[in-house]
Amino acid sequence: MNILIIGGGGREHALAWKLAKSDRVRKIYVAPGNGGTASGSLIIENIDLNKTDELISFAKKNHIGLTVVGPEVPLSEGIVDDFQKNNLKIFGPSKAAAQLESSKEFAKDFMHRHNIPTASYQTFTDLNKAKEYVKKNRVPIVIKADGLAAGKGVIIAENEPEAFKALELMLIDNAFGDSGARVVIEEYLEGEEASFIVISDGDSILPLASSQDHKRLLDNDVGPNTGGMGAYSPAPIVTEDVHNKIMAQVIEPTIKGMKSDGINFCGFLYAGLMIDKNNNIKTLEFNCRMGDPETQPILFRLKSDLLPVLLDATNNQLHKSQIEWEDNSSITVVMASKNYPDQPELGDIIYGLDSEKLSTDTFIFHAGTTLENGKIKTSGGRVLGVTAKEKSLKEAKEKVYQLVKKIKFNGAQYRKDIANKALK
Ligand code: AMP
Ligand code: GLY
Repeated sequence: MNILIIGGGGREHALAWKLAKSDRVRKIYVAPGNGGTASGSLIIENIDLNKTDELISFAKKNHIGLTVVGPEVPLSEGIVDDFQKNNLKIFGPSKAAAQLESSKEFAKDFMHRHNIPTASYQTFTDLNKAKEYVKKNRVPIVIKADGLAAGKGVIIAENEPEAFKALELMLIDNAFGDSGARVVIEEYLEGEEASFIVISDGDSILPLASSQDHKRLLDNDVGPNTGGMGAYSPAPIVTEDVHNKIMAQVIEPTIKGMKSDGINFCGFLYAGLMIDKNNNIKTLEFNCRMGDPETQPILFRLKSDLLPVLLDATNNQLHKSQIEWEDNSSITVVMASKNYPDQPELGDIIYGLDSEKLSTDTFIFHAGTTLENGKIKTSGGRVLGVTAKEKSLKEAKEKVYQLVKKIKFNGAQYRKDIANKALK
């Protein structure tokens, strides 16, 4: 079967890498892909298309049996609806279902209506009313742009002046464009975060292995929020008890709630969770796709063939699927370009990428890279997801950092404490 993957980040490289292992796959096209999908495997090929109508023509001409969508933007624009109108099989939520991610207000109202635990909140478009609300509530307080902002539209204000500044930035200065013309102000939650991702066809639910991301740029969770600087799987905080609670309190009511609201949720559903010291769970956010970088360590431990699972889900037959994991731990360390996330410097040659050849316990997933005249160069903020797996998380950490040290490019930045929380 021929597969089309939409996107060009580390998540899409990991999806292509995993699907390429399936006996049933003949060819994988990635649109637009990156330097890793351009150079790693004979059956993976990049195509330089991004308009939906061009992708639909391509899928028809090239007998694509399944399209898998990586990022949120095409999902929120309705790419799944458009492919389905053309009788093309595509895995991902419809535009209506993707609102769980594309509008924080939609997600918060949905959770409220279906009794899914989340931080208390209110939505505002008026600056003065928003400021009044801040005055009445405790700090720290969290200010969020309503729309998509690539993980950067969340400001945790430590005091009232900071909160006012964040509100002015979003509502008056339009720092996040239309995404920030409406803001959600919510209660600050304490605890440890975990990412919990499932596959659903709208009826059955298949949970993937748990993981934990590292959203801040610098060690010890300081510095600006990023798309994610590293992740590991599984997350020890998600014990069996916590897993069961997440399924019962968050995931099942979400899939059922969407259905009772008239929306079938077929796709990856990602719940970003805060777990407090008494194991109480609250939902920070929903994403309607896999996480990046979480996908990399998760898929690196997946024993089963991913293709039949995605096909079953697309055909509303997910109850037939099972999924098996390796009994180990994996870590991905993101290497980012100089000055990420503000103004990343691009175009530098990356050295040392062949350091991991021949090993089955390590892999370098590419994100912001491009293949130019036979050389791999940086082309985005998050450049690589260096990944390793081992029996224990501690060994996986040692292995991943040995590999990271062999890879060089101008101004490379990476966190040195990925997985420390789980190793404490
Ligand atoms: P979001 O895009 O909503 O997941 O927010 C990005 C990050 O901001 C989360 O991963 C958390 O680290 C942090 N965050 C968001 N909402 C809250 C909250 N209510 N309390 C504490 N931290 C939060
Ligand atoms: N790593 C967080 C996300 O993909 O949203």
